[in-house]
Amino acid sequence: MKKPIVAGNWKMHKTPSETGRFVRELRERLGATTLNPEIIIAPPFVCVPVAVEAAAGSAVAVACQNLHWEDKGAYTGEISGAMIKDVGCTHVIIGHSERRQYFGETDTSVNKKIAAALRHDLVPIFCLGETLGEREQGMTFDVVIRQLHGGLSDIRPTDPKRLVIAYEPVWAIGTGKTATQEQAQEVHAFLRGQLSGMFGSDFAQQVRILYGGSIKPSNAAELFAAEDIDGGLVGGACLQIEDFVGIIEAAR
Ligand code: 13P
Repeated sequence: MKKPIVAGNWKMHKTPSETGRFVRELRERLGATTLNPEIIIAPPFVCVPVAVEAAAGSAVAVACQNLHWEDKGAYTGEISGAMIKDVGCTHVIIGHSERRQYFGETDTSVNKKIAAALRHDLVPIFCLGETLGEREQGMTFDVVIRQLHGGLSDIRPTDPKRLVIAYEPVWAIGTGKTATQEQAQEVHAFLRGQLSGMFGSDFAQQVRILYGGSIKPSNAAELFAAEDIDGGLVGGACLQIEDFVGIIEAAR
């Protein structure tokens, strides 16, 4: 059985002190019964050591929101997979639409980053999704197929547990406008079909495909009930304990 994942992308929110308090409170709220779903938080880089320490021994895993594809070198301001691994992260978000939109990330850089994550035994949470304009022009499938194949070019994953895909339609991110269950399911099923062609049907059946975009406790259960939606990548609603826990409960 595939275990669902609820991951919180904190984006550029919370200081290290706020992080410590948040993670300790989250642990308390979750209690001991947290093996399903898998829970991941992705705080800003400087908050990661505090998060790792506060989450130690719990079911909460810690991710980074980005990495550089080289292991080290003269890349001012960048952080490598080796560093992320060493600090205690298990996952890394790659190719988020905000990185693509504001920081010039392309399918090619995303591809190099996914390779770097796998090389350091980090699970990439590979984000893709179309803009509103692309959806309105009927290009959704063309866009996600290009992003999926571009991001995974020359990558041969063997363990479906070591790769996570996150479908995040750009028009649903931070807008309060969620994709309907049908809209999300349609793209998820399409992505799974593509993954089946690329890596075989066993792999495709087991790989987790998360939905992201204005998930809230009130809409999470309906989205997660769709056959090909294996959990969520949550933005705004992961910053409040009650909302994040509500979404985790929806995934149970
Ligand atoms: P929101 O949940 O705030 O729409 O953000 C989704 C997202 O970008 C998660 O990576």
